[in-house]
Amino acid sequence: MSAPFRLAALESAHDRAAFRCGVEPLDRYLREQVSQDIRRRVAACFVALADSTRIAGYYTVASASLLLADLPTATAKKLPRYPTVPAVRLGRLAVDLAFKGQGLGGALLADALDRAARSEIAAHALMVDALDDTAAAFYRHHGFMALPDSPRILFLPLATWTAR
Ligand SMILES: CC(C)(COP(=O)(O)OP(=O)(O)OC[C@H]1O[C@@H](n2cnc3c(N)ncnc32)[C@H](O)[C@@H]1OP(=O)(O)O)[C@@H](O)C(=O)NCCC(=O)NCCS
Repeated sequence: MSAPFRLAALESAHDRAAFRCGVEPLDRYLREQVSQDIRRRVAACFVALADSTRIAGYYTVASASLLLADLPTATAKKLPRYPTVPAVRLGRLAVDLAFKGQGLGGALLADALDRAARSEIAAHALMVDALDDTAAAFYRHHGFMALPDSPRILFLPLATWTAR
């Protein structure tokens, strides 16, 4: 990441209206929905700030679960035989068009992985339901594996992240 961004939890002083990532539903979510989701504790939102208020990128995370039966056999056989596996879902991840290609998306993803791996509440993996094939390729580039029957749902075991 070349520019000096500061990562922080989203606050009301941050300028949500100016954010443009090129995918309108992700801009609209930040503008209109995220504060309510935070209040209801269905999502947490972290932002990369280019100055005290300008949002260069954001992501959301929440607790989730994966079905053991959906995981690749090699992963599933190392886990207890419970039907579900605890996970953290990366709900949304977006970088403003003005800041793309500078490593910020990768840095936000690393921050989400760090937070999930540091949490006192256990989760086996960070998972994501990718918007499209381009987004899925971004996650594969960062080491995520797809579920065998759902190529847009990808996960990264947090033990492999902390072991890096
Ligand atoms: C996807 C997105 C977050 C990437 O952000 P970015 O800041 O431009 O990406 P970075 O500069 O951090 O790229 C990091 C690495 O990922 C790679 N990468 C970026 N997009 C990629 C893609 N679609 N497929 C494969 N690799 C990709 C880069 O080449 C770079 O590789 P390197 O570290 O080996 O040099 C950004 O393009 C975006 O906001 N897109 C619109 C919203 C979206 O699709 N969000 C993700 C789905 S929820």
